Amino acid sequence: MKHLLAAGDLSRDEATSILDLAEEMHDVQNRQVKKIPALRGRTIINLFFEDSTRTRTSFEIAGKWMSADTINVSAKGSSVSKGESMKDTVLTLDSMGVDCFVVRHSGSGSVQQVANWVRASVVNAGDGAHEHPTQALLDAHTMRRHFRELDGGDLAGRTVLITGDLLHSRVVRSNVWLLDTLGAQVLLCAPPTLMPTGAATWPCQVVQSFDEGLARADVAMMLRVQRERMSSGFFPSEREYVDGWGLTQDRLHAHGHHLGIMHPGPMNRGLEISSEAADAAQSLVLKQVSSGVAVRMSVLYHLLGGQE
Ligand code: CP
Repeated sequence: MKHLLAAGDLSRDEATSILDLAEEMHDVQNRQVKKIPALRGRTIINLFFEDSTRTRTSFEIAGKWMSADTINVSAKGSSVSKGESMKDTVLTLDSMGVDCFVVRHSGSGSVQQVANWVRASVVNAGDGAHEHPTQALLDAHTMRRHFRELDGGDLAGRTVLITGDLLHSRVVRSNVWLLDTLGAQVLLCAPPTLMPTGAATWPCQVVQSFDEGLARADVAMMLRVQRERMSSGFFPSEREYVDGWGLTQDRLHAHGHHLGIMHPGPMNRGLEISSEAADAAQSLVLKQVSSGVAVRMSVLYHLLGGQE
């Protein structure tokens, strides 16, 4: 594997190999092993043209715990703010002898373009509303661990309901393809104005009623309303959104006892998810964050570990 650009590019064997190795990486994360030398001598640049807390930090930790040299470059503070183009920026950094770029950008397809320009490996850390493959991998990893703990079973055959602002979400696209590859059933639910037009052609089922979806789901993955990607206010109103598609305290009590609750973050508490749901005993939100380090270690190892 040279790059990781889209979840749909992963075969079942490749995805399973990444998730299985991530299990072993938890030993490093739990500090049973302090640091491993797997990527000693490798240089990884986290190149973020968009803000991030979880993805950038966990990639930096992942690289450091595998003894790589990790460097953060963001648009603010680099020559991008003086008008340097994205192509000149990545070619400049690539010329310094970098092994891997981890790239986030607001343009859908932009990270594929970076991969076309550079000699180094490239990981897509989120491009516009297109893909966020390491988020889908860490979500799958979290669910595999959740079901193993719950009943000893696997992710295959489970039902995952994804609800929220699906129109602007790269997380939904990556999750639909990866969950299908891993044998899970995906239900999508969103206000009609926030449902992508192509969703009917994806390997999943669209449900109109959030409550119907919750009754069928093993896991409810709530996605953020991305106001920053909306040119004007969003329809429905916030009150209507909470009533129709919010994981409220009432819905938690009606459906919650068997339900795993997920959110990739950052959360709009009180809008797509209530604080009661986010902080409930069956919430997997912080386990997702924790899985992010182990899964990103595994991804970096799969891309760089086999090199000289
Ligand atoms: N889930 C996620 O991508 O979060 P950040 O934007 O904080 O990286």
